[in-house]
Amino acid sequence: MNVLVAGGAGYIGSHTVKRLKESGHNPVIYDNGERGHKAVAEILKVPAVWADLNDRATLTKTLRDHKIDVVMHFAAYAYVGESVEKPLMYYQNNVATTISVLEAMADANVNRFVFSSTCAVYGDPDKIPITEEEKKAPVSPYGRSKWMVEQILQDYGVANKQFKFAALRYFNASGCAMDGTLGEDHDPETHLIPVIFQAIAGQRPALHLFGTDYPTKDGTNVRDYIHVDDLADAHIAAMQRLTPGKPIICNLGTGNGFSNRQIIAAAEKVTGKKVPVEEKPRRPGDAIALYANPARARELLGWEAKHKDPESIIRSAWNWFSRHPNGYED
Ligand SMILES: NC(=O)c1ccc[n+]([C@@H]2O[C@H](COP(=O)([O-])OP(=O)(O)OC[C@H]3O[C@@H](n4cnc5c(N)ncnc54)[C@H](O)[C@@H]3O)[C@@H](O)[C@H]2O)c1
Repeated sequence: MNVLVAGGAGYIGSHTVKRLKESGHNPVIYDNGERGHKAVAEILKVPAVWADLNDRATLTKTLRDHKIDVVMHFAAYAYVGESVEKPLMYYQNNVATTISVLEAMADANVNRFVFSSTCAVYGDPDKIPITEEEKKAPVSPYGRSKWMVEQILQDYGVANKQFKFAALRYFNASGCAMDGTLGEDHDPETHLIPVIFQAIAGQRPALHLFGTDYPTKDGTNVRDYIHVDDLADAHIAAMQRLTPGKPIICNLGTGNGFSNRQIIAAAEKVTGKKVPVEEKPRRPGDAIALYANPARARELLGWEAKHKDPESIIRSAWNWFSRHPNGYED
């Protein structure tokens, strides 16, 4: 299929572009370059359009010129803390921009859509592992922006019988391409594994460990780390199973939770280096434990995570970071 990857210069989008190409599809990157890396288009040797998704004329022309069959929409702002400080910017880019993308798709007669949602739609869940039926109670403008889009997609799917969509709720995206060609390079970096590496490399004085008195095995938060290649494969499975009137809405996680201290210990084992840690008080808004019940993804997509062991995820990330300590350097 011809796939427009909106946000394809970003972390998860770029890895999905790679997997799409490897599985015989024709990905086209569409990204404004604001928070991604233009270098990935050269590394992956795929066409790219460097424009904002709100540029309707360019987006519609791109959809038509490349005879796009499906849009995968990764483009968004994705920092919880920033969303609290700048809610309008988040609702603008994550919600209004998505509406604009859906309108451009209608103009160009493109009916298949795969949306990047998040486990943040659940907020602080009542039950773990989290099933899709858990209440939706996001605790930040970021999480709310994703839940709003999911509701918009539901309404649009009812009104437009041709429209087919998936909303995939990722847990903690992690790891890097196994061949070391692509990596994770956010600025600022907030994800635990690359932050651990930055602390090891002396790029920050220490890893700040927020909260050591949670009611978990070792007092630290528990999260579900899902390898970025597994996420990419789930998107490809979803795009091939889209059906009108039957949205695919599911969690993408491994089903296993690992604490911050367990991830630190695994990183020390993989890298052979000590992680400098500074213990800090709990951060407001951090849920105690978040991990998925992945059963629905297995049922709807015939997919399950291949990387279930944090050491293998961390090894793939270290493989890239140790060779690219300053990221893409762009
Ligand atoms: N990383 C995670 O752990 C995680 C977890 C759950 C959900 N998600 C969601 O997955 C998606 C991808 O996350 P990521 O970590 O790869 O983010 P990222 O910031 O690395 O990539 C997002 C890309 O979208 C582009 N972009 C943003 N707004 C744009 C616009 N208006 N026009 C054109 N391009 C635009 C950016 O330049 C960037 O390249 C996001 O929607 C995020 O909310 C991520």
